[in-house]
Amino acid sequence: MKERFVIEGLGGEKTLSGTVSIHGAKNAVLPAMASALLFKDTLTIENIPGIEDVKRLTELLEGFGVVVAEKSNRSLTIDAATVTKTEFDRAVAKRLRASIILTGPLLARYGSATFPYPGGCVLGQRSIDLFLQSFRALGAEVKEEKDGEDDIFRLNVTDKKLHGADIFFSQVSVTATETMMMAAVLAEGTTTLRNAAMEPEIGSIAEFLNACGAHITGAGTSIITIEGGEVLSTGGRVYHTLPDRIETGSFLILGALTARELTIEGCVPEHVDALINLLQLSGVSISRGKDFLKIVQNTKPSSEWKGVNVKTHEYPGFATDLQAPMVVFLTQVMGESTVFETIFEARLNYVEDLVKMGANITMWNPNKVSIKGPSLLKDRELEGPDIRAGLAYVIAALVARGTSTIDNIYYIDRGYERLEERLQQLGANIRREKLS
Ligand code: EPU
Repeated sequence: MKERFVIEGLGGEKTLSGTVSIHGAKNAVLPAMASALLFKDTLTIENIPGIEDVKRLTELLEGFGVVVAEKSNRSLTIDAATVTKTEFDRAVAKRLRASIILTGPLLARYGSATFPYPGGCVLGQRSIDLFLQSFRALGAEVKEEKDGEDDIFRLNVTDKKLHGADIFFSQVSVTATETMMMAAVLAEGTTTLRNAAMEPEIGSIAEFLNACGAHITGAGTSIITIEGGEVLSTGGRVYHTLPDRIETGSFLILGALTARELTIEGCVPEHVDALINLLQLSGVSISRGKDFLKIVQNTKPSSEWKGVNVKTHEYPGFATDLQAPMVVFLTQVMGESTVFETIFEARLNYVEDLVKMGANITMWNPNKVSIKGPSLLKDRELEGPDIRAGLAYVIAALVARGTSTIDNIYYIDRGYERLEERLQQLGANIRREKLS
């Protein structure tokens, strides 16, 4: 059933107020679920967000014969000792890019993995060359074939086990780092990953795997070393999913533009330092504690803030996943800003719709836009293009004058749990409508 959001804009007024709690991070829970394949006993994961991507990864694991059960609210148990099949459900894998994270632990534990070219948000080419090169370096045989429309990849361990290797990633990749780190945990010998991604989710998973018997050093830095060993045992330990830093940052931007007062609780402010820095440079007043962020601004107009330049970067730089909400922010502040997207080639296409809503944005090339503000935004019928741009549309619709609709909200549900209910609690007029 297709659904859409109907959003009553605030016309630039800042009337929302209240507290929003941050859920577990999508991009931490997905690799954590994949890591269950490294364990001989049942892995319990807590603080699971209620999002569509968790359901899709569950379906993929179940397709292998893994037993996934809901333990209690926000907690899952995963028993991967029961794997009977190492071929991915194609239809599901083609719906999310993160399906590829399963390949590393599956191959290392069970000796094979067959998967289609993974799908997901269209943000650019999203090649998988780093994965294939790394698997070859770890001693796997990699075969590519066509099956009808599908490109299929067959990985096999021809020796008894994968073997350690020195791998230099020609490009920093979050999921390639996670996938190879997990594969190397069960490989023979030492693996070194150079030019590794440093996102907090990687350090969090490594810390948990180490507590369960893995030997990983340097996770969270650009050089990670893994001493391979035997299948892990949880020893009763439970993985607690990190708070979602992208959700945190999105709510911070939403709060700056639409709220008199907003407290964001249960977050790790340090994980969004790059965003906080730019918002403060622009003039937004933000207070922070160990696990909360707060915006108190009475009715200060956004036009008192000034433009800033943004360049997306791997962590700890400005997250590409916050780029679209930040562009909406910059349409409301005084003066000119530029936004340079450096991670993905096609992640600025959504600006066309913001322009149709009244934003003054010039696209210089597919990676660079300049924004002149402030602009009065007006309502529009929108269609969510990807998870993060979908959320940017929600923010734009709230800022705008009039009633906007956003179709295709499956994309928003992929990454944000019950968004409309959380915004209603802050006073927003947003509802979910079923389309026949
Ligand atoms: N790349 C290659 N070859 C590869 C792998 C990546 O060229 O084999 C390129 C990509 O095309 C891209 C760049 O490397 O240009 C970085 O991509 P990366 O691999 O880091 O992205 P990802 O691992 O597929 C994760 C997040 C994304 C987030 C990016 C960048 C997960 C599950 N996904 O994707 O999150 O945008 O890192 O930080 O962790 C989202 O949550 O909406 C989302 C898209």
